[in-house]
Amino acid sequence: MIPGKVRNYIKNNFKEGRVACLTGAGISAESGIPTFRGKGGLWERYDPQIYANAPGLISILRTHPEELVNFIVDFYSILLKAHPNLAHRALAVLEKENILSSTITQNIDGLHQQAESQNVIELHGNAFRIRCIQCSQLVVLEKDKLREMIESFKINKNSYIKILKVLSRYFPRCAICGSRYRIDIVLFGEILPADELSRAYKHLNNCDVLLLIGSSLIVYPAAGLPLYAKERGAKIIEINNEPSSLSDLCDYIITGRASEVLPEILGVLGYA
Ligand code: APR
Ligand code: ZN
Repeated sequence: MIPGKVRNYIKNNFKEGRVACLTGAGISAESGIPTFRGKGGLWERYDPQIYANAPGLISILRTHPEELVNFIVDFYSILLKAHPNLAHRALAVLEKENILSSTITQNIDGLHQQAESQNVIELHGNAFRIRCIQCSQLVVLEKDKLREMIESFKINKNSYIKILKVLSRYFPRCAICGSRYRIDIVLFGEILPADELSRAYKHLNNCDVLLLIGSSLIVYPAAGLPLYAKERGAKIIEINNEPSSLSDLCDYIITGRASEVLPEILGVLGYA
């Protein structure tokens, strides 16, 4: 699976704390979470101009509340069933063995943390967290509460007012300033969390190798990170089951599924 010259490069160059990674939806595909693009992707079923965009979400809540509920129920039912796969777990081992300095992710599914990666940088937020729109206070959503909320949505999905009542029941007002909460994810057209982005750049400044795992690398600013790392002189290794928009930039390409390639990298380094 991993070509010989890449195996040699990995064996000789994966030094302590000098490897970083940027992951995308592809690493969670084998946990049952659909990717966004490509065959069967989420955006094939739901228009991102509506469902991944604040004005779009507000408009569909008003005009077709049942369609918004279908999306929320569909999306969270998948997330609540998902567990880390061998790829997530292999990255956690690389971090534990002090090879991997950080896991920078575009994913909002929390699977890296569930796989016990400690230094996870979530560029696009986390679907299991809500944030106060005023003071940014964060609250983690309990999964049982989310399951309950999904059931309430299903019963009340045809009424705008009843949906608002479900939302206010499960997303109460902020305990600190009384404002409303929203899901702590970055929608299209919104800015990435500054702290997370600066943490990501700090790790890119200190890495010799950047692994790009399971991302089409077409959404900026996240897709700009490999360009920055490359300019700084880092070697770029892509792990994907098909070419991404930055494949030409990569020094090494490993074509395959992340849940097979990453455990193989552990084997090359003697950790599996
Ligand atoms: N192993 C490795 N790569 C895989 C696998 C797998 N098992 N399955 C799919 N892939 C690859 C696909 O080939 C594709 O290149 O994962 C990539 C998924 O691409 P996208 O669906 O575009 O996901 P991503 O790159 O994470 O999207 C970035 O776009 O919609 C926004 O905010 C959203 O964070 C997301 C961002
Ligand atoms: Zn607040």
